[in-house]
Amino acid sequence: MVETIEWTSQGVVMIDQTRLPLHEEYVTCRTYEEVARAIKDMIIRGAPAIGVAAAMGVALGVEQADARDLDARFAAICETLAKTRPTAVNLFWAIDRMKRLYASLRGLPVEEIRARLKAEAQLVREEDIAINRAIGRNGAPLVPDGKTVLTHCNAGALATAGYGTALGVIRAAREMGKQVDVFADETRPFLQGARLTVWELQQDGIPTTLITDNMAGHFMKSGRMGCVVVGADRIAANGDVANKVGTYTVAVLAKENGVPFFVAAPVSTLDLTLANGDLIPIEQRAASEVTQVFGQMVAPPGTAVENPAFDVTPARYVTGIITEKGVAQAPYEESLKKLIG
Ligand code: MRU
Repeated sequence: MVETIEWTSQGVVMIDQTRLPLHEEYVTCRTYEEVARAIKDMIIRGAPAIGVAAAMGVALGVEQADARDLDARFAAICETLAKTRPTAVNLFWAIDRMKRLYASLRGLPVEEIRARLKAEAQLVREEDIAINRAIGRNGAPLVPDGKTVLTHCNAGALATAGYGTALGVIRAAREMGKQVDVFADETRPFLQGARLTVWELQQDGIPTTLITDNMAGHFMKSGRMGCVVVGADRIAANGDVANKVGTYTVAVLAKENGVPFFVAAPVSTLDLTLANGDLIPIEQRAASEVTQVFGQMVAPPGTAVENPAFDVTPARYVTGIITEKGVAQAPYEESLKKLIG
């Protein structure tokens, strides 16, 4: 399994997800501003992974901040990191966790505060891997044996600290001995499916077939899809799911064809403060991601473009939400609340 993100003596090291699969390169972020830039530019991406990066960014920032002005510096660090990407709630969850810890350390020597924040950031990373294994264990029994699993975007080791959420479920199903293969949507415009999911699953020897996004309906109708498993960036209290744009299309196709549609996510992706998915902020990204492929224009100059990075799948399309604490099913208002106690 690849190392997505690590704290080292040189700084926070991450695999550069803008360069995969052609180049396996690592970026070292030496300041919290560099961590923030890496999140914004999607050098690191995927909801749980950007949560880990944000926690490490906070710890790195405090390590380098002027001790005489620590409260103000801490607030500025958190604010910079919080402004990087708006949709994945794990980013805000991780920053809040660091804020709560910082508040509890008031009055301690600055060296101790720094050490405790660094240890917490590393804990966020370690916990994430354990959480993903638990998601895998809970989800694996739901995956039909001898069938294909369709996934959209990359909710794998690269999108987390390791093992993955949706791909964790697939990994766990195979570890149980199930004969499953994967269909990966290419996931335009950033191509997380083609570039990242296929690369990651190839490393593990999991049989994977790449399809373009517009082929999903064709294959869904064929009867070979056992289920769909995707990740999530934010899940509202009613079970509406924000995930990579195109997920909604897949969910509708799945329902139409009687294919179970599962969402795999840690409970840190739940945002029960939002009643429904219409309230989830959707990131709009640069037009160039749509008009260009690898720097080559594929549309005429001056083309009008929309580029929402995520869409919201209404809860009625979701067969189950697989978390580390169990599998929630409709009605989600009740089951999600119960899940987090
Ligand atoms: O824009 P990205 O690549 O950060 O979007 C990622 C996704 O939509 C993933 O499916 C989601 O974050 C879950 S990752 C375990």
